Amino acid sequence: MKAVLIKEFGGPEQLYLGTCETPQPKANEILVKVAATALNRADTLQRMGKYPAPEGESEILGLEIAGTVESVGAKVTKWKVGDQLCGLLGGGGYANYAVIHEELAMPVPDGMSLIEAAAIPEVFLTAFQAIQWIAQLKEGEHILIHAGASGVGTAAIQLANRMGAIPIVTASSAKHELCLELGARHAIDYKTENFEESVIRLTDGKGVNVIVDFIGAPYMQQNLNALAIDGRMVMLAFLGTPKLEALNLIPILRKRLQINGSTLRARSLDYKVELSQDLMRFAWPLFTDGRLKAVVDSVFDWEDVADAHRYIEANKNKGKIILKVS
Ligand SMILES: NC(=O)c1ccc[n+]([C@@H]2O[C@H](COP(=O)([O-])OP(=O)(O)OC[C@H]3O[C@@H](n4cnc5c(N)ncnc54)[C@H](OP(=O)(O)O)[C@@H]3O)[C@@H](O)[C@H]2O)c1
Repeated sequence: MKAVLIKEFGGPEQLYLGTCETPQPKANEILVKVAATALNRADTLQRMGKYPAPEGESEILGLEIAGTVESVGAKVTKWKVGDQLCGLLGGGGYANYAVIHEELAMPVPDGMSLIEAAAIPEVFLTAFQAIQWIAQLKEGEHILIHAGASGVGTAAIQLANRMGAIPIVTASSAKHELCLELGARHAIDYKTENFEESVIRLTDGKGVNVIVDFIGAPYMQQNLNALAIDGRMVMLAFLGTPKLEALNLIPILRKRLQINGSTLRARSLDYKVELSQDLMRFAWPLFTDGRLKAVVDSVFDWEDVADAHRYIEANKNKGKIILKVS
């Protein structure tokens, strides 16, 4: 089969379309003919040699796919040849064929194309895990979502909105309109505003109940200061830096804060299966009636994969970048 391979760890120019062995599904796995995969920041780190595939996973890039069932393993009961699905992978999405455990595969929501479906798994599962499972966001609560126009951010805004919470985002100003369209109540331009001050003002001095953070050290003190009493923060990435030189921890005790971190890729199969099932119960009816949408920024042919990597690394995207596989 054809797949996007890496010559040597490094920049986007190291990516090329080559050939490799087609994966074989195990008893509980499905072989999927991939129609589309989507970019994740993790792909760029893996390309640079900074984020190796977990043991046992394909070393080919690609953490999610949408496509059609080509064949099924001996014990697969839920899927048949020709079914359309999308789902999360430990790796291997940038390829003509990929294998996925049958319990991790999710049907394409009614009325949705495979291109749109490829934009769902990683960001909606990550956002759902962060705000529903970990932070236990409640109706009426304020949630601050950093990088609001990122893939995960656009999913988090919509999910928080559907849970009856009030999303506030930070994003560069050109991306505010999209965030507001998706349901953010307020958008803060973190380049010109102090987000801590804006949050305190927008919440009448109370602070937000939940923060989803991707930035890390540069935001840590302001995040602690912007959280309300009994606030919860979920840290998902360090797009800024992970190391802090100084931090005043007093807000953690005084406000009884909970600071959590998570990476989805490292979770067990059982955890991901349960998360996928729970997301489907909550979100699939909403995708079907249009109250949730897959946010696709752009679609690149997979021959232009290097340009797609340059595009995400330039922070140009609002929502997901799709790679069309052929
Ligand atoms: N822990 C997990 O399980 C998990 C799962 C999925 C993704 N992630 C991580 O979550 C982060 C967001 O992922 P994504 O795919 O949604 O991102 P994305 O679509 O690539 O968007 C990232 C956006 O973050 C904003 N940003 C703010 N500060 C930044 C900074 N210091 N450096 C770079 N970008 C900055 C930029 O938008 P502005 O123009 O608004 O600045 C940028 O476009 C990534 O780091 C990803 O690896 C973690």
